[in-house]
Amino acid sequence: MFIAIYCCDIRNGIGKNNKMPWVNKEELDLFKKITNNHNVFMGRKTFDSIDRKPLIGRNNFVISKTLEKANGITIINDLNDIFKYNDTKLNFIIGGKSIIEQTYKKCKFLFVSNLSNNYDCDIKLEIDYYTNFELYKIIQFKTFYLAIWKSKII
Ligand SMILES: NC(=O)c1ccc[n+]([C@@H]2O[C@H](COP(=O)([O-])OP(=O)(O)OC[C@H]3O[C@@H](n4cnc5c(N)ncnc54)[C@H](OP(=O)(O)O)[C@@H]3O)[C@@H](O)[C@H]2O)c1
Repeated sequence: MFIAIYCCDIRNGIGKNNKMPWVNKEELDLFKKITNNHNVFMGRKTFDSIDRKPLIGRNNFVISKTLEKANGITIINDLNDIFKYNDTKLNFIIGGKSIIEQTYKKCKFLFVSNLSNNYDCDIKLEIDYYTNFELYKIIQFKTFYLAIWKSKII
C-alpha cells in the first residue's frame, strides 16, 4: 500500500529555499512514529534538503535521474518503478512537491499534517483532494491537525 505523508501550511505550502520553513517537534515525532520501519520514497531535492542523510530506521528510496551514488539509500531512476514495491511493506511517499503530485492519485491514503500559519513558502502543493479522495478522519494535535484522506478508487 502507498501512502503520501506531508505537512503543509495554511496555503498548502510545504517548502521554502529547499527546506521546510518550520520546526515542529510534535509533527516530526508523529512522522517518525508513522514511518518507522517502513519504506520511504523521496525526490532528489528532498534528499538534498536533508543533507543527503538517510532517515534512520526506514528503508530510504530516492527518485532521481541524476544521482549516481549515495550511502544508505536505493536510487530509483524511473518513478513508475516504485510501484513494484506495492506488495511489500507500507510505502510512504514523503515529498517533495514533484513526487507527491505525480503519485498521490495512486495512494490509498494521504496523511496531511495541517499547520495554521502562513510560512511564505515558495513550494506549494496542488492536490485535487475532493475528486480522488474522501476525508476519512481528522485528528487534532496541540500544534496542528492531521487529516487522513482515503482514496475513492484504490
Ligand atoms: N512539508 C513537507 O512535508 C515536505 C516534505 C518533503 C519535502 N518538502 C519540501 O519540498 C521541496 C522539494 O520539492 P521539489 O518538488 O522541489 O523536489 P522533489 O520532489 O523533492 O525532488 C525533485 C527531483 O526528483 C526527481 N524526480 C522528480 N520526478 C521524477 C521522475 N518522474 N523520474 C525521475 N526522477 C524524478 C528529480 O531529480 P533529478 O533532478 O536528480 O533527476 C527532480 O529534480 C523542498 O522545499 C522540501 O523542503 C516538504
